[in-house]
Amino acid sequence: MTGIAIEFQSVSKSFSAKLRPAVDQIDLKVHQGETVALIGASGCGKTTTLKMINRLIEPTAGAILVNGKDVRSLPLLELRRSLGYVIQHVGLFPHMTVAANIAIVPRLLGWDQERIHRRVDELLELVHLPPAEFRDRRPFDLSGGQQQRVGVARALAVDPPILLMDEPFGALDPITRASLQNEILEIQRKLRKAIVIVTHDMEEAVRLADRVVVMQAGKIVMDASPTEMLLHPSTPFVASLLGEGRMIKLLQTLKAVDHTGPGSCEGARELPQGASLYDALNLFLETGAPALAVRGADGGGSCLSRERLFEVTGGKAA
Ligand SMILES: Nc1ncnc2c1ncn2[C@@H]1O[C@H](COP(=O)(O)OP(=O)(O)OP(=O)(O)O)[C@@H](O)[C@H]1O
Ligand SMILES: [Mg+2]
Repeated sequence: MTGIAIEFQSVSKSFSAKLRPAVDQIDLKVHQGETVALIGASGCGKTTTLKMINRLIEPTAGAILVNGKDVRSLPLLELRRSLGYVIQHVGLFPHMTVAANIAIVPRLLGWDQERIHRRVDELLELVHLPPAEFRDRRPFDLSGGQQQRVGVARALAVDPPILLMDEPFGALDPITRASLQNEILEIQRKLRKAIVIVTHDMEEAVRLADRVVVMQAGKIVMDASPTEMLLHPSTPFVASLLGEGRMIKLLQTLKAVDHTGPGSCEGARELPQGASLYDALNLFLETGAPALAVRGADGGGSCLSRERLFEVTGGKAA
């Protein structure tokens, strides 16, 4: 059983008695190793929710536990050590080099020079910025995507078990964004952190997260896996966030290997390992074949029929 890394117990935050609460009685659990996306319109309370975890904002009511402990009972330095934080709009210090920006927390913790140097290089490698080229540069002569990578490296510096990311890839072109998303997926595969990522972009949420949490006016209106959300959006608002092409997105989230069945696949075209049902749909359309062979992680083969693919979306095979 995996433990619960973060737990919100009926948490609210009011900035002013005159206004509706920015966050309104939310309950939320994030397990170790899990990625949760927080999504919703501007002003719905996403950043406030994130900042209450590391106590940049104090709740008005309720409790937040990190690894089972009330955050109010933990010394602030200990709490912040366990939480890497990628802030909205990057926030690198412009007068400091890339290396110095990444080394802020290790310095605070009194690591020696040698260890800091090694760690900075390791992190730059992890986010695909060659250390020799980037270590001594300053944030203002990096591209937006490179700055955001440095922001991610900085958040990971002391290897915190929890990573909080507030729109880490906002304002990037789609290609850079996709490549940074891949890096997060890769980091998550290697490091298995609890990640809370705030985003405006449902495709990003579906791509990165094990669970998607939709907020509206300070409340959680749906908390579900991407597949569940795509199949059964709880309200018209959730459906509107999912946007056009909901079934296509659903097929992208499902692995072909999980939907195979009996049937003859002799001589059929084979899908690459890890292919999604969307890849399968494309190959069905390209080849007109009634079935495709699918190879599992164990090397064994199985068969995906056209009927099976359409059943998954609740439709019928043509
Ligand atoms: N320090 C503050 N003082 C007063 N009101 C605040 C403060 N911080 C946030 N708010 C208000 O709380 C609400 C939620 O803000 P929050 O920053 O959490 O939204 P968000 O979902 O992160 O939005 P965005 O997507 O634009 O970043 C907003 O109405 C905002 O105006
Ligand atoms: Mg915000």
